[in-house]
Amino acid sequence: MARILVTGGAGFMGSWLVDELLKRGHEVTSVDDLSGGFMRNVSKGCRFVKMDLRDAKKVDKVVNDQDVICHLAAYAAEGQSVFSPREINDINVTPMNNLLVSAVNHNVRKFLFTSSMAVYGSQQVPFSEDMPAMPEDPYGVGKLYCERMLQIFSDVYGFEHVIIRPHNVFGERQNISDPYRNVLGIWVNSIMRGKPPYIYGDGKQTRAFSYIEDITPPLANAVEWDKANGQVINLGSHESISINNACKLVLKLMGSDVKPVYLEERPCEVKHAHCTTDKSEGLLGYRTNHTLEQGLKKMIDWAREMGEQKPSYRIPLEITKKAPRVWREKMI
Ligand SMILES: NC(=O)c1ccc[n+]([C@@H]2O[C@H](COP(=O)([O-])OP(=O)(O)OC[C@H]3O[C@@H](n4cnc5c(N)ncnc54)[C@H](O)[C@@H]3O)[C@@H](O)[C@H]2O)c1
Repeated sequence: MARILVTGGAGFMGSWLVDELLKRGHEVTSVDDLSGGFMRNVSKGCRFVKMDLRDAKKVDKVVNDQDVICHLAAYAAEGQSVFSPREINDINVTPMNNLLVSAVNHNVRKFLFTSSMAVYGSQQVPFSEDMPAMPEDPYGVGKLYCERMLQIFSDVYGFEHVIIRPHNVFGERQNISDPYRNVLGIWVNSIMRGKPPYIYGDGKQTRAFSYIEDITPPLANAVEWDKANGQVINLGSHESISINNACKLVLKLMGSDVKPVYLEERPCEVKHAHCTTDKSEGLLGYRTNHTLEQGLKKMIDWAREMGEQKPSYRIPLEITKKAPRVWREKMI
């Protein structure tokens, strides 16, 4: 049993991880500023602290008595990051610096960080962990910064660490009101609101989507299993699908005959992106147990029960030049 701090614990992946760690008998403190997460996601079994991780003093206080830190808090709006780099980099980078300093000063034993497949940029798929990092957008650059900082501090001060690179995770509790990220959630919410799903470019981009129930146990294993220590590990399915076909599937499962609307390509959008699973299978016990269709059915049932959500454009575009019309004109 360990005392574990989970940042972003009111968010999507963070709240699932908190529940899994509680189930495994750990004592969990969950931290979130609720900028993108929700109190409804917070388990009653954990201690919850509402705070902004950019506040170094507050971070130091909450890290004080922890054995392990799982740092998931972020604003993962990869597409928006090229238009709002100041705010998005601040959210994604400053908390890492604060957490590292406090982790060292309070003798934290292990630090897990959820990075992203965005660090690969647009190389030949599938991306494997031994490929060089070549991020092509500010979000990916921020994640790479955090990865390197964690490796450096872990080396210098001798605590354990593990870097996880998840990709395209979806499922219940995901924020479906954010027009800047989570394509499946955006489509589900748009269709519930009687709006068409939007597709950037020709829709021939490919991604591999991973259902949250497949991702959560390996993430918790990364906390508990020593064989993950010091490793960088991709996490997610390798069954890739085009955006066009993913959209068709969502429309079919929702019984909708609305036609998708095609928009101009987004700057910096990587055409094909998915990862290898060898390391996650070997070191974290990852298996793809849910097809996209199986996971989507569960997510759609949950979304329908919750009802349609009003889109929230919470971080303004700092640059509107080249920004997709759909965001400039708040069309979603
Ligand atoms: N979901 C994916 O497909 C995916 C893919 C790759 C990487 N990741 C990474 O995994 C992590 C979790 O992603 P998610 O999809 O669950 O995101 P999410 O937005 O649902 O959760 C992130 C949480 O962090 C909180 N947060 C943001 N800034 C904060 C701050 N300054 N202080 C305190 N809390 C703050 C938000 O309120 C939110 O609840 C992120 O680091 C993300 O970059 C996710």
